[in-house]
Amino acid sequence: MKKLLSFTLAALMVLVCVFSFASCGKKGKTLEEVKAAGELVVATSPDFPPFENLEGEEVVGIEVDILKKICEKLGVKLTLKQMDFEAVLPGVQAGKFDCGMSGITVTPARQKNMLFTDPYFVATQAIVVKAGSAIASKADLAGKKVSAQTGTTAEEYCLDNGYSVSAFNANSDAQTALLNGNVDAWVIDNLTAIAMVETYNEGKADDAKLVILSEAMTEEPYAFAFAFGSEDLVAEINKIQKTMLDDGTIAGIFEKFGEDYAAPASK
Ligand code: ARG
Repeated sequence: MKKLLSFTLAALMVLVCVFSFASCGKKGKTLEEVKAAGELVVATSPDFPPFENLEGEEVVGIEVDILKKICEKLGVKLTLKQMDFEAVLPGVQAGKFDCGMSGITVTPARQKNMLFTDPYFVATQAIVVKAGSAIASKADLAGKKVSAQTGTTAEEYCLDNGYSVSAFNANSDAQTALLNGNVDAWVIDNLTAIAMVETYNEGKADDAKLVILSEAMTEEPYAFAFAFGSEDLVAEINKIQKTMLDDGTIAGIFEKFGEDYAAPASK
């Protein structure tokens, strides 16, 4: 009787394991599987200059160049799939895409759901206002309305800090909300803020310009995202990325896009 009981228990445990593996387990491709497929399928929201944006039909930017080099070293081709930022992380997590490339911030909450490469850059969240705005610092934002992109750390930070947030699928719409006066400020990652504000301000009178405040909201590391199961692929990419950081390849890519590069402190 005892024997039967322990056998039943063991069988049950195997069943539970098999079930949990299938339902919530590893969706990511291994290094072997990506090499066999001959391509790395990458989800991206190309509305994020200088990291990824559209030039005509083509997605260009710092992260495109970094991943192109990584794919070259892996011996596979880079295949980009375009979508809203909001769809990138869930798609990667579900194993629909091999990798997420979208100026993605590594956060402890996201790390519970997926894998990240080592960070290659540290960004901040910038506050953008219209010229002449009474908002000059983070403290002035208390009780104000802000816009941000849906699913981003900017949105999360602003909600957590009690601002009234209007969230938009596209960064350009978050910018328009500020221009139309629907919100008092727009919160967005610093290098993208600079790129988009520069483009907008070109040729405009000073009082019609957008202004980026010098005080940042947060500091956050960027990395590429993968589903659980891709541990060995991520380890290999980390090795390649480390070489690219050490030999100046990544700094060179930033320079190509007109940016000064400062490596994350831990690297
Ligand atoms: N770094 C922020 C985040 O991870 C914003 C990223 C937005 N990226 C984009 N391609 N629109 O939430």
